[in-house]
Amino acid sequence: MEIVIETPNSPRKRKGANWEKYGWMYMRISGAVLIVLIFGHLIVNLWDKGVGAIDFAFVAGKWTNPFWQVWDVLMLWLAMIHGTNGMRTITNDYAEKEWVRKTLNVSLWVVCAALIILGTLVATTFDPCIDPNAVNYLPTVCK
Ligand code: HEM
Repeated sequence: MEIVIETPNSPRKRKGANWEKYGWMYMRISGAVLIVLIFGHLIVNLWDKGVGAIDFAFVAGKWTNPFWQVWDVLMLWLAMIHGTNGMRTITNDYAEKEWVRKTLNVSLWVVCAALIILGTLVATTFDPCIDPNAVNYLPTVCK
């Protein structure tokens, strides 16, 4: 019996956008941008006094500058979508049952969306200055 192996790079015959190709391109482009963002992040945060210097005041100070807010939000979006799309690839490769594959992939994107929304809210609405009147409405357990 003759076995015919399809030419690997023959174009797909399905109609509509080729989302797998765009996903493949996204992994490479976001990977290249993430190298700059992640190493820039590590160098700026650790260069001076190391990890021991990172506390509430350090982050509060950094986020007074819109440049670092944009940097951090960009890093969050690119890394979350990159990581989730990478996990989707792995799920598609290894999940044998269709319902397991679908459930895992939907869960991945739900978690990704939740973390992106929460992280973006924190980085863009963060206010380190506590209300000076807070002492008047603290619960009675706080002496
Ligand atoms: C330094 C920055 C990074 C670069 C240059 C990079 C590059 C890449 C590339 C090119 C791929 C595709 C590999 C393939 O299709 O065979 C990939 C896959 C993947 N990446 Fe990244 N990445 C980076 C950061 C990250 C981060 C921060 C995460 C997690 C949030 C992550 C999670 C993944 C996962 C889960 C895969 C799928 C692995 C697989 O298919 O076996 N990567 N990465």
